[in-house]
Amino acid sequence: MLRNAWRVVVGLALAALAGGAGAQDFPKRPITIVVPFAAGGPTDTVARLVAQAMTADLQQPVLVENVAGSGGTVGAARVASAPADGYTLLLHHIGLASAPSLYRKLPFDPQRDFAPIGLVTEVPMMIVARKDFPAQDARDLVAYVKGNRDKVALAHAGLGSASHLCGMLFMTALGTELTTVPYQGTGPAMDDLVAKEVDLLCDQTTNTSAPIRAGKIRVYAVTVPERIPSLPKVPTLREAGMEGADVAVWHGLYAPAGTPAAVVGRLATALQVALADRTVEARFARLGGTPVAAAQATPEALAARLRQQIELWRPIIREAGVYAD
Ligand code: MLT
Repeated sequence: MLRNAWRVVVGLALAALAGGAGAQDFPKRPITIVVPFAAGGPTDTVARLVAQAMTADLQQPVLVENVAGSGGTVGAARVASAPADGYTLLLHHIGLASAPSLYRKLPFDPQRDFAPIGLVTEVPMMIVARKDFPAQDARDLVAYVKGNRDKVALAHAGLGSASHLCGMLFMTALGTELTTVPYQGTGPAMDDLVAKEVDLLCDQTTNTSAPIRAGKIRVYAVTVPERIPSLPKVPTLREAGMEGADVAVWHGLYAPAGTPAAVVGRLATALQVALADRTVEARFARLGGTPVAAAQATPEALAARLRQQIELWRPIIREAGVYAD
């Protein structure tokens, strides 16, 4: 309890220094983090980890609500139009940066309609398959997919989702189009992969680690340049000779635009305290994720990452010729 008390003192002091007008009595009631994908998926996992740790610092319950649909844009739109009081937040990822290039009629502008609070975590992705998929390794997977494109169904969490973007890069690198199966999140997609109802999925290690360890799915490669410490036997796509399909998923926490700077500052402090928590760090590490350093869990760092990623994904999506609407 002493540790929590100390956190509250530090948090309030930092909030007061951040021009704390209106932040001293924030929060006065529970806060909701909207996750724009179905429960049980990687975004949900990150949100619940962070929400639990932020609760301790804010001394108010931080709850998670899943608002799924359209690759994460339904949940994002919900928060973009929520009251700018700091009680409704969005935990989203790379998909917020890809949406402006994928959706011609987007009901929000990611840079205008949100107040960034801070970056949260970086999570690698993996190419995984149903347990009895015929390919023996990543090189065999490339050959099999190229030779059987009409027999392979690739799952994802909706156009613009991380799993969709990774799948798109994978298909572009292979020069082949696969049948794709959209879900409300990769939680339900993983359920179908384990049940052998779908063939392939590119998903975050937060969601793939447990079924891999349980022997319920096959894993072929990680989508980052280096192997990951939590699953060191899994090769990289580059080791399999596949270039241009690297993707790691960054996550950010946002409030609606217009949220008072002092409230945003208080929330950023709580996020930094949460990410520095040894328990949070250990749980992310077991799932292949890495909490960002405190200097990245800031409004400025998230705004810069969002801006850079919007520009990064625009030509990639144009080249793939994909539109969601
Ligand atoms: C995705 O973008 O694929 C999401 O991470 C899926 C999810 O969190 O359910």
